[in-house]
Amino acid sequence: MPTLSARAHTLQESPIRKLDLTAMRFPEVRFHRLNIGQPDVPTPGPLLEAIRAFQPEVVAYGPASGLPACRDAAAAYHSRWGASLQREHVAVTTGGSEALLFAFAAMCDPGDEILVPEPYYTNYNGFGTVVGVTIRPIATRLEDGFAIPSDDVLDGLVNERTRAILFSNPGNPTGAVYGRDELERIIRWAARKDLFVIADEVYRRIWFDTPPTSALELGAPDHVVIIDSLSKTYSACGIRLGFLISQNGELMEKVERLGQSRLGPQPLAQHVGIAALGLPEDYYEHIRHIYRERVDAMMQAVTAVDGVRANRPAGAFYSMLDLPVDDADAFARFLITDFRLDGESVVVAPGGGFYADPARGRSQIRLAAVLERDRIERAAEILAAGIRAYGA
Ligand SMILES: Cc1ncc(COP(=O)(O)O)c(C=O)c1O
Repeated sequence: MPTLSARAHTLQESPIRKLDLTAMRFPEVRFHRLNIGQPDVPTPGPLLEAIRAFQPEVVAYGPASGLPACRDAAAAYHSRWGASLQREHVAVTTGGSEALLFAFAAMCDPGDEILVPEPYYTNYNGFGTVVGVTIRPIATRLEDGFAIPSDDVLDGLVNERTRAILFSNPGNPTGAVYGRDELERIIRWAARKDLFVIADEVYRRIWFDTPPTSALELGAPDHVVIIDSLSKTYSACGIRLGFLISQNGELMEKVERLGQSRLGPQPLAQHVGIAALGLPEDYYEHIRHIYRERVDAMMQAVTAVDGVRANRPAGAFYSMLDLPVDDADAFARFLITDFRLDGESVVVAPGGGFYADPARGRSQIRLAAVLERDRIERAAEILAAGIRAYGA
């Protein structure tokens, strides 16, 4: 039997998805799924109309970096944040995921390192494994809002293999929002160190008090790449459309070649993208209102649970909870396989997978406020009862 690659053997199982398979073994249980960032908010009508209107005679390949009309729409939309973008500054990708993978592949060789504030979006590990890149964590603390540490601390993490600093703003799973000062400092620091900046802004439109500062507002200099996606903003996770944006001509040329290797992003999705990017500003206010209400409900419910510590997200729709349990992974399994409250239970994402060293997230879980308010409140009630039963 031929053997599989070392890479295949080191691929992590996504902590966000792994318990879903276990939950499927219990079809009789009503599970409230707060493990995955899959909103139940209806996809806006104009996007669904674009799907219906897509009736080509031949479903053909499109250009590697996207249809001109979709690139133009994305350039115009992202120019709202100040940078004056043209078609050539945008590559259309299969979700923000592929944009991240292309950024990693264009910037790094096997053995290189990317710095990421921790806890971080777990799939950064997966993209790192595929291209042979190590994610080097930058420790942050719940107590100070997961702020990025000082330049001196960052300096200590850089070595000859470091190629980039990557963060999501607003943050998944922390809900942290970086403002102008913090972002300016990071972009300046990275320029001094000759590093790329990957600003993952897929939650840019979901914030509650003050908006995150986009790297586009700071002019998006050549060492900066911005990632965006339709998934969360337009409740369109399944359409798989994202954008990689940079004003660095050399980098964009290599991203075009990466795109050529997989031919092109799908045309249907790009028509949906054009419809999405043309939505009026009040659409974004509407979704902020929905998520604010859900996040508030979630925070009120979970912080009332004895022994639970959590931060209120300032953006995105996640919160990392510190639980009074010794092993959150085992606890999350217990909720699925053993614990029921009137035939119901919850699926949560164990915290370990959001850390480079899973031990650091051992007592934590991540919740996503992706369900309606009453279901979130019910889920918190089940969680509280589950914690009591687990400890007993
Ligand atoms: C921070 C972050 N970046 C990127 C993605 C990838 O999203 P997609 O590939 O659906 O655009 C996600 C999805 O959850 C995310 O949370």
